Amino acid sequence: MVRLQLTVNRRPISVEIEEGATLLDLLRDKLGLMGAKNGCGKGHCGACTVIVDGEARRSCIVKAERCRGADVLTVEGLAEGDRLHPVQEAFIRAGAIQCGFCTPGMIMSTVALLRRNPDPSEAEVKDGLRHNLCRCTGYASILRAVRLAAALLRGDQAAVAILATVGGRGGVGSSAPRVGAVDRVTGRPMFADDLTRPGMVHGKLLFSTHPHAEIRSIDTAGAKAAPGVLAVMTAEDIPGRKIFGLLFKQQPVLCSDRVLHLGDPIAVVIAETEAQASSALGLIEVGYRPLPAVFSPEEALAEGAPVLHEEGNVMHRVEVRRGDVEAGFARAEVIVEGDYTSPMIEHAYLEPESALAEPDGDGGVVIWTASQGSWSFREMLAASLALPEEKVRVVYTPCGGGFGGKEEPTVQIHCALAAMRLGRPVKMTLTREESILMSTKRHPEKIHMRHGATRDGRLVTMEARIVCDTGAYASLGKPVVFRSAVVSSGPYDIPNVHSTAVGVYTNNPVGGAFRGFGSTQVSFASEVQMDKLARALGLDPLELRRRNALRQGGQTATGQVLGPGTNYLGTLEAVAGRLAGLKARAAAAAAPGRRIGLGVASAYKNVGIGTGKHDGAGAVVGLTEAGRLQVRIGATDMGQGSDTVMAQLAAEVTGIHFGLVDVLSSDTALCPDGEETTASRQTYITGNAVVQAAEAFLGRVAEFAGPGSKVDGDAVVVGSRREGLAELAGRAKAAGRRLEGESFYLAPTTYPLRETADQQPGDDPRLWDVHFAYCYGAQAAVVSVDVATGEVEVIEVVAAHDVGRAINPEGVRGQMEGGIMMGLGYALSEQVELDHGRIVSDNLQKLRVPRIGVTPAMDVVIIETPEPGGPFGAKGMGELATNPTAPAIINAIRDAVGSHIDDLPATREKVLAEIKGKEGKRPCSS
Ligand code: FES
Ligand code: FES
Repeated sequence: MVRLQLTVNRRPISVEIEEGATLLDLLRDKLGLMGAKNGCGKGHCGACTVIVDGEARRSCIVKAERCRGADVLTVEGLAEGDRLHPVQEAFIRAGAIQCGFCTPGMIMSTVALLRRNPDPSEAEVKDGLRHNLCRCTGYASILRAVRLAAALLRGDQAAVAILATVGGRGGVGSSAPRVGAVDRVTGRPMFADDLTRPGMVHGKLLFSTHPHAEIRSIDTAGAKAAPGVLAVMTAEDIPGRKIFGLLFKQQPVLCSDRVLHLGDPIAVVIAETEAQASSALGLIEVGYRPLPAVFSPEEALAEGAPVLHEEGNVMHRVEVRRGDVEAGFARAEVIVEGDYTSPMIEHAYLEPESALAEPDGDGGVVIWTASQGSWSFREMLAASLALPEEKVRVVYTPCGGGFGGKEEPTVQIHCALAAMRLGRPVKMTLTREESILMSTKRHPEKIHMRHGATRDGRLVTMEARIVCDTGAYASLGKPVVFRSAVVSSGPYDIPNVHSTAVGVYTNNPVGGAFRGFGSTQVSFASEVQMDKLARALGLDPLELRRRNALRQGGQTATGQVLGPGTNYLGTLEAVAGRLAGLKARAAAAAAPGRRIGLGVASAYKNVGIGTGKHDGAGAVVGLTEAGRLQVRIGATDMGQGSDTVMAQLAAEVTGIHFGLVDVLSSDTALCPDGEETTASRQTYITGNAVVQAAEAFLGRVAEFAGPGSKVDGDAVVVGSRREGLAELAGRAKAAGRRLEGESFYLAPTTYPLRETADQQPGDDPRLWDVHFAYCYGAQAAVVSVDVATGEVEVIEVVAAHDVGRAINPEGVRGQMEGGIMMGLGYALSEQVELDHGRIVSDNLQKLRVPRIGVTPAMDVVIIETPEPGGPFGAKGMGELATNPTAPAIINAIRDAVGSHIDDLPATREKVLAEIKGKEGKRPCSS
């Protein structure tokens, strides 16, 4: 141990630390300052940024001892009392916060930048924040926030005026500031890894060292005897169900007889400290018998391949049929065909998975964790613990990004098992490398597509064959395969469709839910196909889409007749209206040695679960004793802003000021079930529940306050009498009345996919309603390609999306910008690289998640066409914006260099190979 003195947030500190500890360890573990986050521990993400002697430093790579005598400023030291620092204020007002995990680091980098350069150019801002990753916002709002902060710090009166006006009254249609934003900009402990409990100990997982092997023995004696170790648990210590899975109970909590991939856990070590638990892992001796492994669907489907699951290596197969495809091809005058590959992608949410579990003293357990569904986690935890569900309480902690990746548990079951075994609070947090190893991924897909059209640009037929690597377990692979098959025909009304999607088990990492849920991969293929077809027809690519667009009364490939909330055409027109300006700016970007290109693409996707499955959510809206409106829901806000949307809906319906509305979400003891936060469903489903509960609340108020009473901001008005809400709540309590409305909303009826989309006379067309709503989008991208290096710069993206009604336009914009950036990474850089099942790209750097420096200009157009069943006409839109971006960029590259890249990502090497005409693997396809 070493002692050192330093100043932290203007206070002199004297502290003892372990040798080799980092400044981040010191701040979080010794001083309890949880504002600096650990997103990677390797200097790759910037979430831990603090200011040391005036310089922004990533505290995870600064040795604490080097800070002897230093002056350290953390995000906790920025605000003065209740007065936020202008940078904190600007981040809130510019909508630069989604999940908030990157926010403290972003803010500290911004403060340091603006101290040395009060009026930075955009390039200087990008350089100043180059070490800070954000996976949610797409950086555009962060750039706006830095500009606003700079103006505020310079005393710019126009900026001060903006501050006063942003947000409005907070009802539907206003860009109300994010609920919980102040907590996020001030670094209040809120994420699971920020929490501590007295007597807390730590758990770590031992993972397999083979992608496929039989486990012959597990010897834990050495680890049990290691310093600080309290217990070592294996599968035999699980009292209840030994497998888990959100939909399919298939994945071992701890493997005991066989491992199927390198992310399979075998044992848990619980020790007094995390370091002790980690070092004891190496003392567990596992006897393996390596088995032949398969690392691609082709290998897994080959004759004689090892069989990974009882049902064989084919996990799932889905077929979508409409009309007669071969007759369609016989009629087609132009046919375009292509083979596409889409890589495995890591979610790369900035918050690694974490859980803290504690026995409740009454035979049950409480677990604090971020997930996309507290109730499904409760079911899985209770089953493994062999406890009734009511003995397990899952308390949602703010989710530092999810994107689908937090639908399945990682450490949560182990953590609860350990807490119950020891009777002590246990925390388990994955390192970034462990998170990448263990978590689910976006499925890699191989897609063959063939489209046929008439000379006048009418699509007459299409077929798709999709093969999807689902890895070692099914997870959510079955519905992902379904989605790929269903969406592969794109937002087009094509009379003849045959799409087949097959998911195959391999010994690779597990494929699961990921924003887009199987639609992203096929949108890429189908939209590049459209570009090729437009070129073959000599037709403007937007015009080709216009001629074939799904519209009200049109029919999807699954036979669904679309209703009035369908405005794909509106998104195309919005993009078309901006093309002239875009082209002019593209021309202005021309430079020697670079080629400029413009591409367009579009996409559609379902809202809600659909296919006849249960899809519902509850809500409770009531007045607290403090005179505030409390909204209790089961939706989880992982950065997409559902808490804010629900608060706005409640404010709109009740007439109570947005600032007086609190949201409590996803605590299984206190909130109603909202089911999974997935499929862009919460605005529609929980939103409708909140509207209904708020209406019921108004009914209770009217009953209590008397006829003619009306809620008005912060009071109830009856005739000329105005009674404050706290006063009203006090009177209700004294009278033994609860001013509370409750509701459970069930989605409109949907039906399973039918064998064919073709309806016969007399059939009820509603039986083909696979989903109750869809969202639509179109985008255009301009790229500049360096012909010497193949490097692609995306200069601008225009995105127009049909969102129903924008409850919070700034929030919608943030979802679109974040989706665009995720699509940009998918197009150009990101990939989980594997070598015989081992993840080579095992950190954020190697995953090549886009940084702020590559942020293009983004022009976001929100198309509002009310969805009849949605709350105030809203429908979900959190996933779609990612889908058109990659094909728009690939089509723009084609425009620039003459070749489509059909194999994502379009790395500079691939682009250069196309430019040089030296592509060895496959000839340029158009
Ligand atoms: Fe320090 Fe990621 S935690 S850079
Ligand atoms: Fe930046 Fe979530 S808001 S990572």
